[in-house]
Amino acid sequence: MIEEKVSNSQELMALEGRYGAHNYHPLPVVLSRGEGVQVWDVEGKKYYDFLSAYSAVNQGHCHPKIVQALKDQADSLTLTSRAFYNDVLGRYEKFITEYFGYDKVLPMNTGVEGGETAVKLCRKWAYEVKKVPANQAKIIFVGGNFWGRTLAAISSSTDPSSTTGFGPYMPGYVIIPYNDLDALAKALEDPNVAGFMVEPIQGEAGVVVPDDNYLADAYQMCRDRNVLFIADEVQTGIARTGKLICCDHHGFKPDILVLGKALSGGVFPVSAVLANDEVMMVIKPGEHGSTFGGNPLGCAVAMAALEVVRDEQLAENAGRLGVLFRARMQALIDQSDLVSLVRGKGLLNAIVINDSEDSDTAWRICMALRDNGLLAKPTHGNIIRFAPPLVMTETQLGECCDIIERTILEFEA
Ligand SMILES: Cc1ncc(COP(=O)(O)O)c(C=O)c1O
Repeated sequence: MIEEKVSNSQELMALEGRYGAHNYHPLPVVLSRGEGVQVWDVEGKKYYDFLSAYSAVNQGHCHPKIVQALKDQADSLTLTSRAFYNDVLGRYEKFITEYFGYDKVLPMNTGVEGGETAVKLCRKWAYEVKKVPANQAKIIFVGGNFWGRTLAAISSSTDPSSTTGFGPYMPGYVIIPYNDLDALAKALEDPNVAGFMVEPIQGEAGVVVPDDNYLADAYQMCRDRNVLFIADEVQTGIARTGKLICCDHHGFKPDILVLGKALSGGVFPVSAVLANDEVMMVIKPGEHGSTFGGNPLGCAVAMAALEVVRDEQLAENAGRLGVLFRARMQALIDQSDLVSLVRGKGLLNAIVINDSEDSDTAWRICMALRDNGLLAKPTHGNIIRFAPPLVMTETQLGECCDIIERTILEFEA
């Protein structure tokens, strides 16, 4: 138990600074409670959450149905490992595969494990089905991608803050520019290419939305070359962009779909890799796994989280509110020199601040937003991502737009 006297923000931040690794640079606010679209700090101040734990809390903080599923399951069985069967995993597997329309699921825990699983699956498929010579398989990634912090993930990164000091990197990766079909066509000429892994919208890079035809054309090009299209929908998936998954906007189904974050509504780490049998069945017993992957607690939570998405029509809400949000931000841009652009889909949006990438203007605006009761975080220097929980109402969104507008105009003055 933390001692009673350590309860104010300053002391709690000092504790983290003293005893925790310094691998993050959080906005100085210490949260102790969340409900729906709002969070409270330890001093009792209320904020709108415009980050949603990087799009994990799509269903809103502490959604009662998801929390109840967690509590109910915690009372009966939490972990068996996959050494034995448990009475929830099969039900979850049926539920999630039917929900997303795939033959099979491979359950993991974090998003990065989902990405890693997809890469392994793709390599195995390349050797067993496509007949790529042993250890020659290549996977194409795009610049600006982000899929986590393991060595496999950072090996595909073009961001020096992810890579510097952590080499050597994973072989077999080809990195081409994002949103560049010519570069993809050229890379696909190599017969040893097994997969193309891409975020439909690049979240961490600053909500970078590709050209309308990019994803569907890339998918078709991959098909033509017998290359698997791997969609990393850890951030864009599960209703965030106004459809169940972002690829649904473009009328195709990725060969491998990676999900995480909102798969549990932010209640528990649950990730999943979905694919059809031709791909998934290349993995045999003992070849891949995780002690916690497929645990009953995570499965129960994920089923509840997905039910909430469907029952509360969160994709429709995200799509509708996203249009209103971007219209409000566009009106702000017309009045302000400080914001140069708004972009995004559904409730995954960002504004670009009219200042250099290495300026601290976006950070200072986020501090001012915090003071005015709204929490957001810069992604890359001059970009602020706005991704509230999808359970937001139109009235709440209006209030939030008022806060953002007022803050930016005051800041400018
Ligand atoms: C697109 C994408 N993929 C993968 C990940 C990694 O997820 P996790 O942090 O749960 O490992 C993230 C995290 O931000 C992400 O945005």
